Amino acid sequence: MSRPTPATTAPWKATFQAHLEKVGGSGAEFTLATVSAKGLPHARTCIFRGFWATLPSNEHNELPKNPPIYDSDCPTFTTDARMGKTHDIFATANGGGNLTQSHSGSGGGGPVEAVFWIKETMTQWRIRGKCWLIAADDIEGGQQAQNSGTVTVKAEVGRYMRAKEGSGRAEKNKDWSWRLEIENYFENLSPTMRGTFKNPPPGQPLQEGKDDKAGEGLGQKAGHLSDEALARRNFRVCIITPEQVEAVDLSDPTHCTRQVWNLAEEGRGPGGDQPSESFGEWNLVETWP
Ligand SMILES: Cc1cc2nc3c(=O)[nH]c(=O)nc-3n(C[C@H](O)[C@H](O)[C@H](O)COP(=O)(O)O)c2cc1C
Repeated sequence: MSRPTPATTAPWKATFQAHLEKVGGSGAEFTLATVSAKGLPHARTCIFRGFWATLPSNEHNELPKNPPIYDSDCPTFTTDARMGKTHDIFATANGGGNLTQSHSGSGGGGPVEAVFWIKETMTQWRIRGKCWLIAADDIEGGQQAQNSGTVTVKAEVGRYMRAKEGSGRAEKNKDWSWRLEIENYFENLSPTMRGTFKNPPPGQPLQEGKDDKAGEGLGQKAGHLSDEALARRNFRVCIITPEQVEAVDLSDPTHCTRQVWNLAEEGRGPGGDQPSESFGEWNLVETWP
């Protein structure tokens, strides 16, 4: 079932963003849950890197930038294509993707839940939706032909990209480069963090060694993504397209609240038949905490 592009900012975003600012904004830690091909849960800590299409500026990043013509409600993080979460996200997508596909380029679409505990506001946020992974090399022509994963990612994530008021999406979107956005995510990381994408395969036993010829090794630094073939093969920007968002506010122990927002056409949340208040494309249901 296709969903419309939400025309306005999600009703939960301003509060979520204000809470994130209290714990460092982009740089905030959260727990990401995925489901493996065998149906098992996996959770791990990740770092929030901003909302898709509005990458925060970084004084060390001097790359050219995309024009600021889009906005979205999609939290992003970065990962390595060789990590377990990448395979989970491919394997549990509609149509499923195998390990080779998850290593090779853009795609995904499996279900995830991102949990942010913001102690400063005593609020737990749970963002549920699908996760899409973008590689620099196949997202825009580049070195490899576009595969069907790339086309799907652009269509699915594109639905969540709102043209900012007055930006004239139709004329300007040709100036907005997906590849440049990925390069900027990489450039926003420290040189040492960039170097981790040249690590030996994460999760592989030490005794299986590493690919010295390809340049794999721990503790390396890296420069621009466009100059780093090995890092480029492994680096992914991950975009969560939210469908249900839940905020549990425990700041007043005598009056805890729980709010659940569902994207209108995905409204099968825990609120069920209860009366719901419609906010644009999102429906809000208040439940007992
Ligand atoms: C503070 C902290 C931040 C982390 N940030 C990320 C991140 O943004 N992306 C990521 O893939 N892994 C991140 N990790 C590592 C993951 O927690 C995990 O160990 C790794 O991704 C492998 O997990 P997987 O095999 O389940 O994919 C972070 C770990 C810590 C402790």
